[in-house]
Amino acid sequence: MSRKLWGGAFREETGKALAKLSVSIGFDRRLHREDIAGTRAHARTLRAARLLSAGDLRKIDRALDVIEKEIAAGKFPWREADEDVHLNLERRLIEIAGVAGERIHAGRSRNDQVALDLRLHVLGSIGDVDSRVHALAAALVGLASRTTDVIVPAYTHLRRAQPILLAHAVLAHVEPLRRDRERLADARRRTAISPLGSGACAGTTLRLDRTIAARALGLRGITLNSLDAVADRDFVVETEAALALLMAHLSRLSEDLVLWTSDEFAFLQLSDRSTTGSSMMPQKKNPDAFELVRGKSGRVFGHLLAMLTVLKGLPLAYNRDLQEDKEGLFDALDTVRLALDAMREAVEGLRVRSGPVDLGGGLNATDFAEYLVRRGVPFRRAHRQVGELVAVARKRGVELQSLTLAELRAAAPRVGPDVFRALDPVRAVAARDVAGGTAPRRVRSAIREVQRYLKRTRPKRR
Ligand code: ARG
Repeated sequence: MSRKLWGGAFREETGKALAKLSVSIGFDRRLHREDIAGTRAHARTLRAARLLSAGDLRKIDRALDVIEKEIAAGKFPWREADEDVHLNLERRLIEIAGVAGERIHAGRSRNDQVALDLRLHVLGSIGDVDSRVHALAAALVGLASRTTDVIVPAYTHLRRAQPILLAHAVLAHVEPLRRDRERLADARRRTAISPLGSGACAGTTLRLDRTIAARALGLRGITLNSLDAVADRDFVVETEAALALLMAHLSRLSEDLVLWTSDEFAFLQLSDRSTTGSSMMPQKKNPDAFELVRGKSGRVFGHLLAMLTVLKGLPLAYNRDLQEDKEGLFDALDTVRLALDAMREAVEGLRVRSGPVDLGGGLNATDFAEYLVRRGVPFRRAHRQVGELVAVARKRGVELQSLTLAELRAAAPRVGPDVFRALDPVRAVAARDVAGGTAPRRVRSAIREVQRYLKRTRPKRR
């Protein structure tokens, strides 16, 4: 019978199916760096409590160095029989460091160990998600700078609404990313707390100073209740929630870019690098990057819901159900990182159309009504008058500005000859000179503001 590290009280081998169900080394070995860092930190706590000699600590550190090299070289003897990353590393530590290694698990449980590892993993990963969001935002600002003289319709209900700068619409997709970064930073703040020293659930009789490990790991503090410390996965939920919303934003951006690069809209053109062809239709260049990102949002939402479902009925404190926290989180992080890279690449490759966009279809009707308001007409009345003129123009298949002054006056008596200036879409865009608006000078200053923000919040090179 192969001896488990926890096998003292056992006389029978684990059942075959349970062994298969139980083993997590296939996915949790991704936590090896975090687990080793936690072990080094815990060794320092034990040393301060005189539970390790200086020689023991040295042996443990050296053995961990060896283990790190073995893992890096692909030579570490991972064993399914040892279930998870924690026991695999502990067994090897004991093989290399001997009795010193046998001392390491004092005052520690895999329950506080895995809670720590996962927190460290979230902290490390949020950093690279954040720098990718920053890079995508920078690519979008680059696109905005190239589209400050492209006037396009803004849409509501996917129906032509009012003329705007394309740059204004591009910048509208940067704002959600800024909020995503705030949410990630906020999740990170609550994650950076050490559960080490909580043991299996009730702490330890050994006199451990828990702040030593927390400090060694660069964490902000220690958890305040040993039961909560091993039961809590809020930091996983919060991170997955922030990632889910981020994916929703990427999905909406994708949808707009699928539309904007279509032959029907044609505001922008995709580079070959971001499209793929059809096996049957020779002319096709499909926007797969955007479609795949839009599609992948679903799996990230799913991981959030799966985690909440795992948590909802769990009694205190640790339960093995919690092992289900890892694969979803890893996949959510992988998916988001890849989606962000693909989006950035595709956005950087976008070419701006050269000719003007068709701005017909009554896009200037609201400008007309506001013109009348400036001439003293109450807005509700102006709305009705312009509405009547829209009906006339539609019936004739022309735009409002093609009607004569006399025709306009028949429905809107306050119209003067200067109305045609107000109806010109280029002037109408320039006139929308309100804070947060689409007037070119507002958009140019918005671009500068976002550039300053990106500079101020540039992630440190990792
Ligand atoms: N592999 C476990 C997990 O991922 C580690 C903790 C196991 N603890 C236990 N008592 N079986 O959650």
